[in-house]
Amino acid sequence: MTTNRTFTMLKPDAVKNGHIGAILDKINAAGFRIVALKKTQMTVADASAFYAVHNERPFFGELVEFMTSGPIVAAILEKENAVEDFRVLIGATNPADAAEGTIRKMFATSMGENAVHGSDSDENAAIESAFHFSGREIF
Ligand code: RTP
Ligand code: MG
Repeated sequence: MTTNRTFTMLKPDAVKNGHIGAILDKINAAGFRIVALKKTQMTVADASAFYAVHNERPFFGELVEFMTSGPIVAAILEKENAVEDFRVLIGATNPADAAEGTIRKMFATSMGENAVHGSDSDENAAIESAFHFSGREIF
């Protein structure tokens, strides 16, 4: 089922560097409606569970350390074709490969500190949204 919703996190680098407003502005300008939004900080247990799919990868420890290093902004976004269109808006995982005008090209500093997360499927968007938000935080 296509839900037309995706999940994002503005990662600790984006928050620390003062880019929350600029990134949310680009998200709105691209036609996404914000249906849930909060600033929060993940524990090591949270980040390990959230990125469990990567737990065998060599960068897993670094990823968990970075994602728990400071507050993030979590959001659920709505738009037709949300998952795919948001991945286009954020650009490639490595900012060196990200297209001009994408969020990662503008705000990311490295492969690890790449400013934003975007869900990679409708199924994961629903799982990740439920991980961070309760029903009464979604509008
Ligand atoms: P995300 O899940 O955060 O939206 O990123 P993504 O889909 O573009 O990339 P993914 O393959 O899911 O990797 C998750 C995050 O792990 C870090 N990473 N580091 N050093 C490395 O080779 C490496 N590969 C991935 C990145 O921060 C990536 O966003
Ligand atoms: Mg991913």
